[in-house]
Amino acid sequence: MDKLRACIIGTGGIAHCHADGYVAQKDRVDLAACCDIDFEKAKRFAAEYGIPRVYASAAEMFAAEKLDIASVTTWNSAHKECTIAALDAGCDVICEKPMAMNAAEALEMRDAAVRNGKLLQIGFVRRFGDDAKTLMEMREAGRLGDVYFGEVKYLRRDGCPGGWFKDKAFAGGGPLIDLGVHIIDLARYLAGSPVPVSAYGVTYNNLGPNRAKGGASAWSAPDLKEHPFNVEDMASAMIKFDNGFSLVVSTSFNLNIPGDLVEVNVYGTKAGAHIGGETALYTDLGGSFINAELQGNSKFDFHGAFKNEMKGFVDAVLGVSPCIATADDGVYLMKIIDAIYRSAEIGDSVAID
Ligand SMILES: NC(=O)c1ccc[n+]([C@@H]2O[C@H](COP(=O)([O-])OP(=O)(O)OC[C@H]3O[C@@H](n4cnc5c(N)ncnc54)[C@H](O)[C@@H]3O)[C@@H](O)[C@H]2O)c1
Repeated sequence: MDKLRACIIGTGGIAHCHADGYVAQKDRVDLAACCDIDFEKAKRFAAEYGIPRVYASAAEMFAAEKLDIASVTTWNSAHKECTIAALDAGCDVICEKPMAMNAAEALEMRDAAVRNGKLLQIGFVRRFGDDAKTLMEMREAGRLGDVYFGEVKYLRRDGCPGGWFKDKAFAGGGPLIDLGVHIIDLARYLAGSPVPVSAYGVTYNNLGPNRAKGGASAWSAPDLKEHPFNVEDMASAMIKFDNGFSLVVSTSFNLNIPGDLVEVNVYGTKAGAHIGGETALYTDLGGSFINAELQGNSKFDFHGAFKNEMKGFVDAVLGVSPCIATADDGVYLMKIIDAIYRSAEIGDSVAID
């Protein structure tokens, strides 16, 4: 079998996880080219990974190269343009989360995949963690029963990544679109991928801009000149789904809490499942309540999950196994995010069609 010729569009932080994922599959993937609008950065990245061809734009790269697969790892506002360019150039694509700035862009991207008969996978890396895999196996074995309610939190006390992440024109929003997509998607996955029907949300921006001027921690570098802090610093919402499942989500870059917290809880008629510091099931047996902490490979490991995700992408491209984070999943998530932002704006619940 000829190796797949892979490229990376956007050679910043997360591109390293994609490159490592391809390098780990050397037997079936050649990392053939990369590009970044910051050409010097792309050159440094190429030197680090031994990538032979480097470009200053996706258009230049696709004009010069015949490539099979592409990673889109740019900031959010460039996902649509770069993904559609890669699909139109005949590539199967994995695009980082959030899929796009909004649902309208996400739909254009999905249409481009369909039009070209190509795969578009979305970077919902949490689906590829050992915790999610174990709980999904339990769900499929019927151990959770009907999953009808969930609560997810991705809260940072002082954790805006800075730079473009706080600038609406580049990011599309704050912690909801950046962190919230991971945990909303994971809960929806564990609930059997129901269709969202409505959302009621609130957003705040009380702490972020002040912290970004140089607050209690060094995380939010005072770089307000290049990128204003004009996204929310906290968002919360209730989302309802077509099968009766409902989900409460809270996310923050800045919040007066004792410490950071990431947890996903989904509650079923037979057991509740928890992902957090530990992975656990809560149920009852013979008249007693049981709290069972899962042992072995049942925890989330960031780099391990990325390796699994990139392997899953290549497996799906080669037809070894189906894609488990599809463009449709990405579109549903963007519809949810749009509805939450709109609901916060109008102060009422918003229907999702
Ligand atoms: N899955 C995860 O856990 C995870 C973690 C971090 C970031 N991300 C996502 O990955 C994406 C990138 O984040 P990052 O932290 O690596 O950002 P980054 O700023 O480090 O890198 C983004 C790069 O994209 C380049 N770029 C922008 N527009 C481009 C274009 N049109 N063509 C080519 N290059 C372009 C920029 O010059 C920059 O080098 C974001 O969508 C982010 O949400 C995902």
